[in-house]
Amino acid sequence: MTPDEFRKHAHELVEWMAAYLENVEKYPVRSMVKPGEIFKQIPDKAPVLPDSFTNLMKDIDEIIMPGITHWQNPNFFAYFPANTSPPSILAEMIIAALGAQCMNWETSPAAAELEEKMMNWLKEMTGLPDYFEGVIQDSASTATLTAIITAREKASKFSFNENGTNPPGTLRVYCSEQAHSSVEKAVKISGLGKRNLVKVAVDENFAMLPGRLEEAVKSDKQNRFVPCCVVVTIGTTGTTAVDPLRPVGEICRKNDIWLHVDAAMAGTALILPEFQWMLDGKEYIDSFLFNPHKWMFTNFDCTAYFTRDVASLIKTFEILPEYLKTRTRGQVNDYRDWGIPLGRRFRALKLWSVIRSFGTEGLQKKIRMHIQFAARLRELISKEPDFELMAPVIINLVCFRYSPPGFDKKEINNLNEKLNHSLNDSGKIFLSHTVLNGKYTLRMVTGQTNVTLEHIERAWDLIMKTARSF
Ligand SMILES: Cc1ncc(COP(=O)(O)O)c(C=O)c1O
Repeated sequence: MTPDEFRKHAHELVEWMAAYLENVEKYPVRSMVKPGEIFKQIPDKAPVLPDSFTNLMKDIDEIIMPGITHWQNPNFFAYFPANTSPPSILAEMIIAALGAQCMNWETSPAAAELEEKMMNWLKEMTGLPDYFEGVIQDSASTATLTAIITAREKASKFSFNENGTNPPGTLRVYCSEQAHSSVEKAVKISGLGKRNLVKVAVDENFAMLPGRLEEAVKSDKQNRFVPCCVVVTIGTTGTTAVDPLRPVGEICRKNDIWLHVDAAMAGTALILPEFQWMLDGKEYIDSFLFNPHKWMFTNFDCTAYFTRDVASLIKTFEILPEYLKTRTRGQVNDYRDWGIPLGRRFRALKLWSVIRSFGTEGLQKKIRMHIQFAARLRELISKEPDFELMAPVIINLVCFRYSPPGFDKKEINNLNEKLNHSLNDSGKIFLSHTVLNGKYTLRMVTGQTNVTLEHIERAWDLIMKTARSF
């Protein structure tokens, strides 16, 4: 493609992108295709001769778009959001054009230094202690794996990396029964073994019971296990429950255990002074993550990972083959040593663009509005006697179910599963579900970038009508 052809297609593409964002509500929220439908439309063999970008765009419209679930549609209420925003998309375009691979300071000093500054901005915005240092990771799963491996190295006096074994005794990791599955995955793939993950019971609000944690740690120590890491969740995936940081932190401090905090979605709420209570006990935290790619209007992927102990992080992950030796080593941040991958994208640029474009006030205003929408939805649901709220509404998620009289527990579960599928198959809205104490529960998140109160009220009307039509 020549520079002139590139320019022509890029202009066309920007028009396409703007039209998509303007019309995103017109698409069915969840893709309606059947398994294999896209695959069979794509040739089995790579083309031998060059094809035009115009033909590619035609196929994108005809083959790919029907197979897209529209996460940016304001009627998307499922999972947690993966929000974008125009300033983030524009920054992604620059990142793609620069194509810089930012493994070392030297491979793009601007990327390293902007990343350091953005992490400082986020640290201040979220109220994390000043002594933390941050690095951008691709996902919360990677950041939790990074934390658990660092904790493993500290607890094994940095011998696990060296010998591949666990000399001081079997290491144990603790999280609540409601923690995200990425914790279990990290324990499995860090070599600690799934059986050494202790899932601590939760209270009636689905938050970790510190007393149960203390008992588990005590009993493990008596049985010669070595407590290595506790993962606290601020905003669980099921219900946005907030584990009590201070009492858990005190247990960690007393027992010399690494305290990692997973605030993947809810971390964005920390930019509101009224949500700083979630960080009470922050002085005990060893590592902390949150995902601007969930609720802070920054394109996937972008996870902010902070730690008080960068020396241990680097000692765990650094690797220095000859070809990566630089003259600036030790004077600058070489972020390849701060996590798992060597190659790194210039993700700091999209954070810079988003934060500058919204301003911290703009971000606060938008997420406060999303939180108010959840409160409004909660109010609407509580007025309907045949619906039931299933968990406290803390941030931007409402958990509920349809529970008309005259049905047993199994029938109610089936009804709600049917309701979920029926709503999602309509293409009008998209919800996801969880199971709480054996009860099938619908989850509706009110944090999509462009959602308005009207979208929420319309969705709620549809939910009621659909449920009552069964
Ligand atoms: C609390 C929590 N932690 C971790 C994750 C995993 O996030 P990622 O996709 O960034 O790995 C999620 C995903 O929703 C989550 O809700």
